[in-house]
Amino acid sequence: MELFRRRYAKCREVMAEKEQDCVVVFPGTNMYYLTGFLEEPLERLLVAILPRSSEPVFIVPELYEKQVKTSTWITDVRAWKDTEDPSKLLNEVLSSLSLIDAKIALDTRMWARFFLMFLKVAPKAVYSDASEVIDGLRAVKSKEEIETMEESASIADRVTKGVIGRCGIGSREKEIASLIELELRKLGVESLPFRPIVASGPNGAFPHHKPGDRRFKRGDCVVLDLGGAYKGYCSDITRTIFIGRCGSKEREVYEVVRQAQQLAFESIAEGVEARRVDGAARAHIADKGYGERFIHRTGHGVGLDVHEAPYIWDGNAQILKAGMTFSVEPGIYLPDRFGVRIEDIVVVEGTKARRLNKVSRELTVV
Ligand code: CO
Ligand code: CO
Repeated sequence: MELFRRRYAKCREVMAEKEQDCVVVFPGTNMYYLTGFLEEPLERLLVAILPRSSEPVFIVPELYEKQVKTSTWITDVRAWKDTEDPSKLLNEVLSSLSLIDAKIALDTRMWARFFLMFLKVAPKAVYSDASEVIDGLRAVKSKEEIETMEESASIADRVTKGVIGRCGIGSREKEIASLIELELRKLGVESLPFRPIVASGPNGAFPHHKPGDRRFKRGDCVVLDLGGAYKGYCSDITRTIFIGRCGSKEREVYEVVRQAQQLAFESIAEGVEARRVDGAARAHIADKGYGERFIHRTGHGVGLDVHEAPYIWDGNAQILKAGMTFSVEPGIYLPDRFGVRIEDIVVVEGTKARRLNKVSRELTVV
């Protein structure tokens, strides 16, 4: 509980810097991060109003009242009944906190129906994106968060190694994907932030291919991308393997990606701009003639969400700080032929980064 209260205290400092009067969070990871209450988005109004200079208030449907009270440090929990219109309570709360025409930073993952309710209840308020207040805080992980990220990564590592051992000629994409899901669950993962990607042969040219009925053939290149949430924190790892043999073109492309991933990794340090890391991978791939085939950013932050700040792309001048955790995942995609991607989660530590994933990146033929 104390942890969440401390985060709110920091959040208040950022609100002051950004001249915001309050932050409103919706069920999801932002709400969990600041209040300790974790729930999926729902169609009934459930929000936490977190003001800069008065005490926070939870507005919850009556059926959630007890649950919220036992999981958050916030003591002012106000419930509305299913027979009532929740916008009345919202109006009451915003008025009592003098927020009816204030600067309100909204969780942008809030459903539009609730945003419309805010607009109706408080049309004179000035709304902005709460990620400007929260993302910077969430991007820098504490020692405890990094430890959990390590555990989460090590689960993903074990599953990756195990699954590589089960791949061979005749394996079906869908079956390997189901196996990945099962193994992640067995090792304590509570949810899958994305469906595992198993992309064989020409399917590998789609970075987010959905596993289908294709069976692996000799000489196939197979992209395996998986992750799970463990104690709330996500893992995300990609390895590309070869079935039976590896052709010369495949080998060449694999080595370019592997080298690009290594160069991006080595470019990471506290104080470096995020775009420099993207640039390190991109320049190498372009040098080797595959610039047009690297069709996504180099990485994304990982934490409570599998995609969060900092985003590692060409236009992001954000300065990397110690404790940031993100993916480094360059790839090359040759349409109708194959794709190669290698992804590790790293943590920034002073003048360098440390990989949380330990699975070998050597070219692997099974
Ligand atoms: Co991934
Ligand atoms: Co990723």
